[in-house]
Amino acid sequence: MNICLGIFDSGVGGFSVLQRILERHGDLPCLYLGDTARVPYGEKTPSEIRNIAREIMHWFSDKEVSAVVIGCNTTNSLALDIVEKSLDIPVFGLINAATNMLHEKRIGVLATPLTAASLAYTQFITSKRPGTFVIEQGCPRLVPLIESGQLDNLEIKQAISQYLSPLIEARVEAIILGCTHYPLIVPLLKTLLPLGVRIIDPAIGLALQLDDFLGSPKALSNNQLTYSMTRFCVTAKSESFSRSASAWLGQCPEIHLVSLKGNQVSSRIGTSRGL
Ligand code: DGL
Repeated sequence: MNICLGIFDSGVGGFSVLQRILERHGDLPCLYLGDTARVPYGEKTPSEIRNIAREIMHWFSDKEVSAVVIGCNTTNSLALDIVEKSLDIPVFGLINAATNMLHEKRIGVLATPLTAASLAYTQFITSKRPGTFVIEQGCPRLVPLIESGQLDNLEIKQAISQYLSPLIEARVEAIILGCTHYPLIVPLLKTLLPLGVRIIDPAIGLALQLDDFLGSPKALSNNQLTYSMTRFCVTAKSESFSRSASAWLGQCPEIHLVSLKGNQVSSRIGTSRGL
C-alpha cells in the first residue's frame, strides 16, 4: 500500500510534529496543510474551530491520504469527533499521545487560550489516569510571537515567565507542550523552568504511535532529514511561514497556495526563499 500522511495545523506549529514523524519514518510521503489564512486558532470560538475542521477534512477528502495527523492541539481539543468521523481512515491526535507519555502525578499544560479553556487535556488525562492533578494555562501571546519568528527575545521571555508562574506555584512535575508551536521555544523554556520539571512534547509519543500503522521505523538523524517527500500547502501567502520553513526545516521547500473552499488547488507560490 502506498501511504501518504495528511497533517494540518493553523500554521508552522505542525512542523514540530512533522519533524518528529520523519525522524522516525524518514521516507514517508506527507501532505502538510498550514491554515495561514486563519492563524491563530487559539483565540477563535469553538464553533469556528469546528467549522474549520470540517473544511480541512473536506479538503483532504480527495487527496488520497491514508491517515490524518492532527498537528494542532486546538483542533484536537474542540473538533476531534469531526476529524474522526469525516473520512474513513485512522486519525492520530496529540492529547492521547501526551497522556500515554505521562508517569508524573502533577501535570501542567501550556496551551492556546481555547485549548486551555476547553479542559480537554484535564478531562482526557484524568479519565485515563485518575488521581492526576492537571493545571492548564492559556498562553495568548505565544503563537503570534512564534509565528513572527520571535523565539528568543525579552517579550517572549516575559510572556513565558508569566504563563509558567501558576504552574510552578502548583508544583507541577511535568509540563506538556499543549500547542505544537511550543517545541520551538523549548530552549528558552528550559532556562525558565525549575530543575527536574520534565517537558513533554506530545509529538514524540505520536510518532511512536504511528509505528503500528506504518510498520518498522526507518530512523534518521537530524542532518539526514529531508522533506522532499512532503508537499507543503498554505491557505494564504505568508512570508513568516516561508521564513519559518527555511529556519526550522533547514530547507526551502516549495509551498503551494490552496483554497479549502471548493477544493480548488491554486498556484505554486514558489520556494520559501522566493517569497
Ligand atoms: N499549533 C496549534 C495548536 O497546537 C494552533 C495554535 C494557534 O493557531 O493558535 O494548538
